[in-house]
Amino acid sequence: MKIIFIGTGYVGLVSGAAMAKLGHEVLCVDNDQAKIHDLNKAVIHIYEPDLTELVRQKLTQEQLIFKNSLAENLSFSQVVFIAVGTPEALDGSADLSYIYQVIDEIISSAQEQKLIVIKSTVPPGTCKKLQQYLFDAGTNHIILTNPEFLREGSALHDFLHPTRIIVGIENQDCHKIIDEIYHPLTKQNYPLIKTNLTTAELIKYASNSFLATKISFINEMANLCEATGGDISALSYGIGLDPRIGKEFLKAGPGYGGSCFPKDTSALAHIAREYQQPLTIIESVVKSNYNRKYIMLEKIKKSLGGDVKEKVIGILGLAFKAGTNDVRDSQALEIIELLLDEGALIKAYDPISIKEAQKLLKDEVQFCTDSYKTASNADCLVIVTEWPEFSKLNYKKIYDLMMHPIIIDLRNILNPLEIRNHGFKYDSIGRQ
Ligand code: UGA
Repeated sequence: MKIIFIGTGYVGLVSGAAMAKLGHEVLCVDNDQAKIHDLNKAVIHIYEPDLTELVRQKLTQEQLIFKNSLAENLSFSQVVFIAVGTPEALDGSADLSYIYQVIDEIISSAQEQKLIVIKSTVPPGTCKKLQQYLFDAGTNHIILTNPEFLREGSALHDFLHPTRIIVGIENQDCHKIIDEIYHPLTKQNYPLIKTNLTTAELIKYASNSFLATKISFINEMANLCEATGGDISALSYGIGLDPRIGKEFLKAGPGYGGSCFPKDTSALAHIAREYQQPLTIIESVVKSNYNRKYIMLEKIKKSLGGDVKEKVIGILGLAFKAGTNDVRDSQALEIIELLLDEGALIKAYDPISIKEAQKLLKDEVQFCTDSYKTASNADCLVIVTEWPEFSKLNYKKIYDLMMHPIIIDLRNILNPLEIRNHGFKYDSIGRQ
């Protein structure tokens, strides 16, 4: 089947390429000319395993096409997926202006009825409003929604092996097309769940908010472990074995970051307030995660005797998690900003996201080309992202290189006993 994808960000590009892998013919549209130019040469600026190879292969097989103009290419297919950004507005709500821009363009350019599938994360009620907007404009285009659950770093795998496919659908005539699009996955028994538009929108927000809640819960339990003498790793394992709790997303750390959880929890809390149905749990999660960076700052200060002024601090990891070069809403960047405000001197290294971090951080950060250069002459080394290479470093060498052998491991990736045996003063999260 022919499909149009609008927006070649994380979700749009991965989903478009994955749909081509499922056998569809996909046209991806983005108004960023430089990006389309690069994509046509299979040059991809996000780090995602296997994506470049897939894009290159599908370009060669002419199953994937990249274009700039939506108006000129709208006749390619009746099915149009919208995967543009819905960033956080100043008041915490989701900014839907990019979605409306695309809808307006479809209204003015489409010559035939379109099935418009919203893949972007949009607050509950948005698709109903979009449907009304299309009717009010005198068109018969139909809105569906199909939220995405892929994770950065395993995005293609997640798309092709989904835990579930959720479709919001209120028009009886659209079932056949959706079934056909996802047949390559449903025939492998991946579940496709159809529900109404608002429920599908809510499933996306509820999923991300529930996962964020698990993380904040375990982070606060880690605080309690530190205060009482408990061990968060054993605690996570101990509770996670209960299948009603589940062991995933129980790793304590510097707080959740990235382009999804912070924005989606805020947006859900915001919309619930608008409906006078406050989500007190999610409000607390947002607050708890906001406070997390200050708790990390205090931890670093304490290890350095209470003050970081003019102390050289080496930061290992800038991405919001391992396996991605994405630094959006990264705890690492927020902690660096706080340390700079307190007068610390920052050296930083990340295996793949330095270029992205440089665009967002102040000039005074000294970026290094490896972990050892970051450790050299540092008063303290802070591990913020759980890149596997950080647990395999030669810590004897690191000990010799540092001015003061202090390591703060915000991801619990090192063995406390081993690292202390090297002579380090070591602190981590929720462990003694
Ligand atoms: C998240 C969801 O996991 C996806 O299902 C969803 O599709 C996506 O958002 C989205 O809405 O587009 P992602 O942002 O790629 O995916 O990252 P996660 O792997 O979920 O991690 C989010 C944050 O939580 C990271 O900062 C990570 O370090 C942190 N985290 C995760 C923890 O601190 N502890 C954990 O146990 C797990």
